[in-house]
Order: sequence, then C-alpha cells, then structure tokens
Amino acid sequence: MSPTTPRPFAIVTGASSGIGYELAKLCAEDGYDLLIAADQPSIVEAAQGLRALGAGVETVQADLATLEGVDTLVAAVAGRQIDALLANAGHGLGGAFLDQDFAEARHVLDTNVTGTIYLLHKLARTMRDQGRGRILLTGSIAGLMPGTYAAVYNGTKAFIDSFSFALRHELEESGVTVTCLMPGPTDTEFFDRAGMTDTKVGQDQKKDDPAAVARTGYEAMKKGEGDVVAGLKNKLQAAMAAVTPQGVLADMHADMARPGGGKA
Ligand SMILES: NC(=O)c1ccc[n+]([C@@H]2O[C@H](COP(=O)([O-])OP(=O)(O)OC[C@H]3O[C@@H](n4cnc5c(N)ncnc54)[C@H](OP(=O)(O)O)[C@@H]3O)[C@@H](O)[C@H]2O)c1
Repeated sequence: MSPTTPRPFAIVTGASSGIGYELAKLCAEDGYDLLIAADQPSIVEAAQGLRALGAGVETVQADLATLEGVDTLVAAVAGRQIDALLANAGHGLGGAFLDQDFAEARHVLDTNVTGTIYLLHKLARTMRDQGRGRILLTGSIAGLMPGTYAAVYNGTKAFIDSFSFALRHELEESGVTVTCLMPGPTDTEFFDRAGMTDTKVGQDQKKDDPAAVARTGYEAMKKGEGDVVAGLKNKLQAAMAAVTPQGVLADMHADMARPGGGKA
C-alpha cells in the first residue's frame, strides 16, 4: 500500500471480546481501519489494543438490539466506502423457554436477528452501490439443531445461517460476497453471559480458541466463500446434524444444555 492509498475500512460488531475482538484484530493486522461497536464501555479498551496494531479505530457504544442503536452505528460510518462488514454481535440465553424472562429472550432475538438484519439492510445497500465488499455474519452450528434449553438462541442462529445464504445469492452479481461463520462451542464470555456455566457444554474444557475460530471465518470471508464451520469436530457435528432426525438432535441438545447438567 502506498502512503497515499487510503487504508481499507472495516466495521466489526461485538468487537469488545471473544470472536469479534479476534476478527477485529485480524482486520487490523491486515491493514484495515476500523469502526467497532459493542454495548458496554469495554469497547474503548478493545480499541486501544487494536490501535497498538497500527489501525485507526473508532468506537460506537450502542445496544444493537435497538433500531436507534443500529442507527448510531450507521451514522458513524458517515458515508465512507465499506470494504468489509463483520456482523458478529450476539448473545445467548440458557434455560427452559417458559422459565426465561421474556424481555431477556426478546433481547436475544432483537440483537441476533432484528439488529443484525437492520444493519445489513442499511449498510449492504451501500456496499451493493459500491459494487464491491465482503460481508461476514457470525451464525452458529447451533442453528443446525433445535436448542432444547436454549430454544430462542438456536432459533436466531438458524435464521442467520439461512439468511446469510439467501442474501449471498441475491447479491451474486453485485461484487459483494456474504459468508457465514458457523462456530461450535468457543471459549469466550458467551456461556457466562447466557447463564449456562452450570451446563455440560458450558463446562466443556475443550471449547475452541476464539482466535482460531475468527481466523477460519476471516479467511473464508476474504476468499468470498459461502459458509465455514470452524473446527473438525464441529464439521463432523454439522454433517451429522444434516442426517439426524430433529427429535434426536433436540434430545442431544437437552443433554448438553440442561440447567444444572454440568458438575456441581
Ligand atoms: N462462544 C460460542 O460458543 C459461540 C458459538 C457459536 C456462535 N457464537 C456467536 O459468536 C458471536 C460472538 O460471541 P462470543 O462467543 O465472542 O461472545 P462474547 O465474548 O460474549 O462477545 C459478544 C460480543 O457481542 C456484543 N454484543 C452482544 N449483545 C450486544 C448488543 N445488544 N449490542 C451491542 N453489542 C452486543 C458484546 O458486547 P457487550 O459485552 O458490550 O454487550 C461482545 O462484544 C455471537 O454472535 C455468538 O452468538 C458463539
């Protein structure tokens, strides 16, 4: 890159921790300037770490479950060309559906689905007009199975896994690619935040490394691939899910996610 060439510009949501922070790091190492967003003030700390890698980094602190929060992020783009949009913000919620607080369940839906597609509706239009760009959505292998004891969360990820491919095909001739990253259980703040630390999956000591998961997704995005499941074990699980009856998958999920199903 010559000193006069502007650096490419990437937007990463949910970049304060976990997979999103690692995605933002990969963008920074690859020469992108960044606009990063999350809900809590820790996004400012995350920006400091990313600036140390040489990137120009702006932050937006907003609840991306709300249209107003997404509007704040869109306003911060300020008409710039978008080279990459990594829509990764999301969270889970454990427990039996009828025992969940409905406002919390709705926040999962509003963050993972409504906020995500509202952001895409705004920014992917800009990218289509540009005639180029890369989009990465963080879906999940959870979207491939009924989420007994995480029913709303798995439903949101089934939506994202499906939506991603549909949008990809609608944008086929546009120069914009859409990639879906489908991680399995990954060692981030996810399970703590979802109230799932007393479950088998929450206590699994062999969760994937978020840096490796992010790299898998980032490389697939750069190549413009349709989707990628992170990790061999998850690839096998995804392949198995495709040929296993839903009832069996729902039972298997119950075993992994039942509250109190882990070690006391
Ligand atoms: N960990 C796993 O096992 C796993 C597996 C498959 C898919 N995923 C997906 O991977 C993505 C990243 O999760 P993670 O595992 O890296 O968990 P994480 O460490 O908890 O990171 C989640 C990120 O999303 C942000 N976020 C959540 N809700 C938000 C909201 N309403 N508005 C703005 N920002 C919000 C969080 O910021 P704040 O803290 O500021 O809210 C944080 O930056 C999620 O979409 C998740 O569903 C995770």
